[in-house]
Amino acid sequence: MSEPCTLITGASSGIGSALARALAPEGRSMVLVARRRERLEELASELHAAYGIKVWVFATDLAASGAVEQLLRDLAARDCSVHTLVNNAGFGLRGGFQQASWEQMQRMLQLMVEVPTQLIAAVLPAMRTAQEGRIINVASLAGLIPGLPGSCLYSASKGFLIRLSQSLAAENHPWGIRVMALCPGYVHTEFHAVLGVEERMRRLPELFWMEADQVAAIAIRALAGSRVVVVNGWLNRLMAALATSLPEPMAVWLSSAFSQRFRR
Ligand SMILES: NC(=O)c1ccc[n+]([C@@H]2O[C@H](COP(=O)([O-])OP(=O)(O)OC[C@H]3O[C@@H](n4cnc5c(N)ncnc54)[C@H](OP(=O)(O)O)[C@@H]3O)[C@@H](O)[C@H]2O)c1
Repeated sequence: MSEPCTLITGASSGIGSALARALAPEGRSMVLVARRRERLEELASELHAAYGIKVWVFATDLAASGAVEQLLRDLAARDCSVHTLVNNAGFGLRGGFQQASWEQMQRMLQLMVEVPTQLIAAVLPAMRTAQEGRIINVASLAGLIPGLPGSCLYSASKGFLIRLSQSLAAENHPWGIRVMALCPGYVHTEFHAVLGVEERMRRLPELFWMEADQVAAIAIRALAGSRVVVVNGWLNRLMAALATSLPEPMAVWLSSAFSQRFRR
């Protein structure tokens, strides 16, 4: 019989590592995916020592062609069936739409739209057969807020994940499959350093920030419920509520004003 496992992309830091630590006590085997092998191996040793679980490391650039196919072949060779899929790997692009090269845009769309879709398509049939499974798509508050300048493809890709999650949840609920779009606001991770805006982001009051382990704990609690779009924290929920209930021009004006104050 195949072995049920938890597959997490982008597990080498931030929210992905925190979700791995939060899901490991469930006792399932884990597959950790990201580019930095050493980081993944460190985490794998930590989780194995703490919970006695098998943890496999798959170090790859998921945006590279053929990477997902290779990952799926590896899972099949290990007779792993994905019980919990966490689509988390992601990055931001600095500047406006015109400042990014087509190559950068393609990498973003590949990693944050195609890879999650491909992984879901691959694991869903076995989840349906087993009549259980969980898919956590790490989206963002940015996917709910309209008209964020400097966030064109990022917001669009997160909006895609949110809509995809909502439809998947409706389609697969009868098969006992739980689908969630996790929407954090600002989280202290390596994300903003990778983006090259760490210094500037320090101007954002601490009130807006969360720690990655808080985000993971909220996700774990929310798994027990049925809410598909899970926005982390009261302030982010307030911003999401304003963004989705105000007339569009007002919501766009607010998000632009906020973004200019802190991001530009
Ligand atoms: N931090 C925030 O404020 C925030 C807010 C809302 C949503 N999010 C979302 O949360 C998710 C996790 O981000 P984070 O904040 O935890 O940032 P992070 O610390 O920079 O983590 C990003 C993860 O994605 C992996 N990754 C990036 N490019 C990859 C690639 N080409 N192939 C494989 N793995 C790749 C990174 O690993 P390697 O570098 O080792 O490959 C890393 O493990 C992202 O989807 C992000 O959009 C973050």
